Amino acid sequence: MLARNLIDLNQLSLEELDDITDMACRISRHPSHYSSACRDKLMATLFYEPSTRTQMSFQSAMLRLGGKIIGFDNPGATSVAKGESLKDTVIVLSGYTDILTIRHPVEGAAMAASLYSGVPVINAGDGGHLHPTQTLTDVVTLRNVAGRTDRLVIGMCGDLANGRTVHSLCKCMARYGGNSFVFISSETLAMPAYIKEYLTGCGCQYSEVRTIEEAMPYLDVLYMTRIQRERFTDPDEYEAQKGVYVLDSKKMRLGKPDLCVLHPLPRVDEIAYEVDDDPRAYYFRQTLYGMYGRMALIIRLTSEHGHCVPEKPAADPDFICANPKCITKVEPYLPRLSLETPKGKVCAYCEHHS
Ligand code: NCD
Repeated sequence: MLARNLIDLNQLSLEELDDITDMACRISRHPSHYSSACRDKLMATLFYEPSTRTQMSFQSAMLRLGGKIIGFDNPGATSVAKGESLKDTVIVLSGYTDILTIRHPVEGAAMAASLYSGVPVINAGDGGHLHPTQTLTDVVTLRNVAGRTDRLVIGMCGDLANGRTVHSLCKCMARYGGNSFVFISSETLAMPAYIKEYLTGCGCQYSEVRTIEEAMPYLDVLYMTRIQRERFTDPDEYEAQKGVYVLDSKKMRLGKPDLCVLHPLPRVDEIAYEVDDDPRAYYFRQTLYGMYGRMALIIRLTSEHGHCVPEKPAADPDFICANPKCITKVEPYLPRLSLETPKGKVCAYCEHHS
């Protein structure tokens, strides 16, 4: 049986992930066959952070399945503005609905929500931590456009420090045989140590370079990302980093004929508009695969799990997460929870060490 919540895509076995992406492919061929798959189901979208694609694709997905939606994308217009905690909002909304989707600026927020929700919770992005349904989107896209999810050389470029999409994607693609990574970033925006440790633990190879040009000839996939302005504490630091990496037609000429260029979007300036006409640019098709992937995920979670009392995991009172961006720092009632990993204990919410 599928895990009740989707907080991290690695909660799914590869077989379960393949089942969901198979279903997404079937839905993309015959969407009308699924038009009442979620009739009488209600989804709440709790968006504490701006979103276009993720929010709208979840909403389109549920409506196309015959379900209904409620939610907010402006927490300032809800009781959050009066100081309501995440816990209280989640308890109330999970009582009204059959599934919750949450996006939050703080790392570990989706995991925290799952502790109090009586219905399945989907992580639609928690700060700079993870974005599993974007990764589901990426996997469905790769299956369709690259024809495989293994034996790929995957370049990732841009804000690898703060980009949750690339963190989720690394963790997922490391599980398929023969994939390797080339991280293209400045030193300041390099991939976090915990992701590199994860890759090493999986026996997965990666290298780090400073320019797109030196990586380009070797890549099967180039995953571009924007510099995440909202995650910088120092505006001057953002100014120094922006505009450093721009993919244009000249650089595309160095790429393989079957290169696949992806981007979770929104784009700021990291892909020149001229690249849109290159047949290797798949980022707009990627958004469509995201809706089909989310349709498949909603069907699976709502058909396998109903309302229930959430489980209370065993607390680890001595564990104090060292990450200042962790949800435990802003919602202090949360129990301290840790996970054992080969590198020692990490925070169960945001995966940082104590
Ligand atoms: C991404 C996100 O929100 O992390 N966008 C998305 O969900 N498609 C990428 C980004 O904002 O840069």
